[in-house]
Amino acid sequence: MDSSPDSLIGYDFEFSHRLRFLSWPEPIVRVQSLAESNLTTLPDRYIKPPSQRPQTTTTNHKPEAATINIPVIDLDSLFSGNEEDKERISEACREFGFFQVINHGVRPELMDAAREAWKSFFNLPVEAKEVYSNSPRTYEGYGSRLGVEKGAILDWNDYYYLHFLPLFLKDFNKWPSLPSNIREVVDEYGEELVKLGERLMRLLSSNLGLKEEQLQEAFGGEDVGACMRVNYYPKCPRPELALGLSPHSDPGGITILLPDDQVVGLQVRHGDTWITVNPLRHAFIVNLGDQIQILSNSIYKSSEHRVIVNSQKERVSLAFFYNPKSDIPIQPLQQLVSPTNPPIYPPMTFDQYRLFIRTQGPRGKSHVESHISSR
Ligand code: OGA
Ligand code: NI
Repeated sequence: MDSSPDSLIGYDFEFSHRLRFLSWPEPIVRVQSLAESNLTTLPDRYIKPPSQRPQTTTTNHKPEAATINIPVIDLDSLFSGNEEDKERISEACREFGFFQVINHGVRPELMDAAREAWKSFFNLPVEAKEVYSNSPRTYEGYGSRLGVEKGAILDWNDYYYLHFLPLFLKDFNKWPSLPSNIREVVDEYGEELVKLGERLMRLLSSNLGLKEEQLQEAFGGEDVGACMRVNYYPKCPRPELALGLSPHSDPGGITILLPDDQVVGLQVRHGDTWITVNPLRHAFIVNLGDQIQILSNSIYKSSEHRVIVNSQKERVSLAFFYNPKSDIPIQPLQQLVSPTNPPIYPPMTFDQYRLFIRTQGPRGKSHVESHISSR
């Protein structure tokens, strides 16, 4: 082996990187346990530096900030040919990467049942959930941090991460078994959301001026990925010092979020302003991930968002991710580039791409912004 200093550094990095991937850098503390221990102060590990605290960066004193909301799109009327909605969705994708959908075809009872099942799960004692404890190797299961950097400031949430697609990754043994109906409900929920994901993909594709199937084909056709992160944000004793989830863009394709029906928390960045999303009842919040920004050569933007917490009520949200097949190269679509408009991003598989957030944790849009061609 070449023993020049450079290659040693490279080797060392690789090695420690692999090791870290087998386990977390520090013992895991469940945020739920902290919340239930009647703390009056917030442990240091959850205190954000002043510039990142929600109060200091939320510029809600701007009069327009309180009233802007993300666009609401009626999918029924859109698919029956409402051109105005098509234009609004297209604009939302170019600017914001965020919109709400209503009349989306998923039964409201199923949405409620899925959310209730997860609420019951998170309300089980911590010990009942520890059996599903996750590792940074796959992230599947019950987790309490994102990223493996030692000493990192953490977010105020616990979560559960599981796969629907590809089928060989769907493993009921890695899903919770309580409450007793959870697997059945979550399975049906996943199936419905995959269908909704497919419809949204066709919509985005044709809005980009492509064949309806083009985006889906670029995602690997039948072999796409679908997974879910269920977020549990316990009450926080000092919500002005912490974040439920730090600013990030989702690394994957399309995210379909079922927010809590009682408690707001999701904020979307719009310029220098963080807009708190007011979800409509039985609507989904849709946002575009980095793979859509990459495939569209930045015509469509992934959106930066974060979650704030509060001291009064816990919050549960279900984030469903519709992703490309994880081992095929993703790069700007040929139809969207030209000699005068060259591809901004080099090819990278989603497996490789998501290592950014899996090792470094949420860091705004820095991952997609640093992932540019050097040419
Ligand atoms: C996520 C996410 C938002 C929320 O899980 O990626 O952004 O409201 N969740 O919990
Ligand atoms: Ni997100």
